[in-house]
Amino acid sequence: MKRAIYPGSFDPVTFGHIDIIERSAKMADELVVAILNNSAKNPLFSVKERVSMLEEITNHLPNVEITYFDGLLIDYAKKMEASIIIRGLRAVTDFEYELQIAQTNRIINSHIDTIFLTTSLEYAYLSSTIVKEVASYGGDISNFVPEKLVHRIYQKYTNVQG
Ligand code: PNS
Repeated sequence: MKRAIYPGSFDPVTFGHIDIIERSAKMADELVVAILNNSAKNPLFSVKERVSMLEEITNHLPNVEITYFDGLLIDYAKKMEASIIIRGLRAVTDFEYELQIAQTNRIINSHIDTIFLTTSLEYAYLSSTIVKEVASYGGDISNFVPEKLVHRIYQKYTNVQG
């Protein structure tokens, strides 16, 4: 049984994340999507909201479980009995940081390997930060996130503006 873990902030989840989730769910027997519960990052969405959004958009994938964690990813991966960490690479600029983290994680626990998936070209430009930036100005985000999440994202900004 191969269990993989795909960690991230998912604030909010984008088509780029969904692409990685769908592809890695085909490679692993079980895929744990793990949301970092780090209030220091000042997320737009609470961890509960991010769990709910991810559950909604992965309900067609029976081997995918949505969870959240605090602390070190490598410790959580061990706790979840995952042997693989999945990370997406959009561009060379992602690589340096991801390599450093993957190597650090491997020093801490050599039984858990990191596998990088290259993001599909159509989503190579996409990030949660871009989605938030466009949404904050009321721009069209329908090319970036599933239709059913669009309203929830806009709502954050209408609430903020009162
Ligand atoms: O979606 P993101 O923000 O690129 O995800 C980053 C994440 C959550 C994978 C990374 O920040 C992480 O693993 N944080 C937990 C703390 C940790 O283990 N850091 C790496 C070792 S220094």
